[in-house]
Amino acid sequence: MAPSARILLIVSGGIAAYKSLELIRRGRDRGLSFRVILTPGGAEFVTPLSFASISGEKVYQELFSLTDESEMGHIRLSREADLVVVAPASADLLAKMAHGLADDLASTALLATDKPVLVAPAMNVMMWANPATQANIATLRARGIHVVGPGSGDLACGEEGSGRLSEPNDILDAIETLLGRERVLSGLKALVTSGPTHEPIDPVRYIANRSSGKQGHAIAAALAKLGADTLLVSGPTGEADPAGVAVRHVETAAQMLAACEAALPVDVAVCAAAVADWRPAQAGNQKLKKNGMTAQSLELTANPDILATLAQSKKARPRLVIGFAAETEQVIKHAEEKLKKKGCDWILANDVSAGTGTFGGDANTIHLISANGVEDWPTSSKQDVALRLARRIADHLRGAHA
Ligand code: PMT
Repeated sequence: MAPSARILLIVSGGIAAYKSLELIRRGRDRGLSFRVILTPGGAEFVTPLSFASISGEKVYQELFSLTDESEMGHIRLSREADLVVVAPASADLLAKMAHGLADDLASTALLATDKPVLVAPAMNVMMWANPATQANIATLRARGIHVVGPGSGDLACGEEGSGRLSEPNDILDAIETLLGRERVLSGLKALVTSGPTHEPIDPVRYIANRSSGKQGHAIAAALAKLGADTLLVSGPTGEADPAGVAVRHVETAAQMLAACEAALPVDVAVCAAAVADWRPAQAGNQKLKKNGMTAQSLELTANPDILATLAQSKKARPRLVIGFAAETEQVIKHAEEKLKKKGCDWILANDVSAGTGTFGGDANTIHLISANGVEDWPTSSKQDVALRLARRIADHLRGAHA
């Protein structure tokens, strides 16, 4: 196991505070140790005793506590850590961080630290979407603060949408990425495409598909976790930007291709995006009116093939070019044909027929096809598929695999 690293965990107010107990428990299994600062808001949801019991350390709460200051001042607290993690990070604490306020122990320690900081926001969907919160997050990102999540789904407040605290394992993965553990890909550059593309018909309508971006985003996160300098070129998705990954947001296939070509040279390219094969030949400047239109009126033109362009690049072909094949029948046969036609090195074939849940779901079943034949991977979470692929890429680029 990697040597122990010291995390200063700041727990702010919110129902998600209970998940931080699980974060500590699982983190200790991964060789991390935790010191906890519990804000007054956080203490409304989980007691200091719970954190002390699970971390095996004293819990710090007061800025001006004589005992805390004589044992461990806020400066030492923030400096003795390898990484500062705020989970959950409330809208209030994010706002304090963005504005440099220091009126309690948590905000003071954050202002005083010289260590990398990772925040895991958790709040109501409207609070997260509020332009004030978004501006604060943008400010923090621009200052080099790392952000993991939030995820989307049912929220504790009864509403649905973005604002859920990331799962403990995802936060721990982000922590390990930032701590630089298992960095077998460090020094290498990776490019990943993810999500659907939207091809405009007019200002209100577009052609798209069912890709959620979960698989592509997980691959980018896994490559970064192993130390690759990773650029994710993402079509429109509801997925949060993975921590430690540079992200270019695009809408159309043409924009995705341009962003990919601008990223070259890279060592490895993974094309997981579900790029629309066709786009309207002429997108309307105004909303098209139904009268006068027939089913034949929408003229389509073929989009560029990003995977084939990268694989066949004369100037800057990545050492390893990997595509996906999304098939609904004769999965292996069609994927083998794509491998040849596009000229990539590996194809990850997955069945996307109705009922598989591959599009938008959390699991995937992969068949890795290369010059060496077909390898069937067991059904697993998209994160596990991503990690397995990233390790496989590392083996290949470092010479362990043909
Ligand atoms: O996003 P999720 O909901 O998590 O779902 C994951 C996924 C099913 C989208 C993913 O696992 C997957 O299969 N991605 C590829 C989808 C796809 O467009 O497959 P395809 O068989 O049509 O294309 C073959 C390959 O060519 C893919 O690598 C694709 O990225 C690439 N391509 C296709 C067309 C095009 N114009 N440019 C491309 O680069």
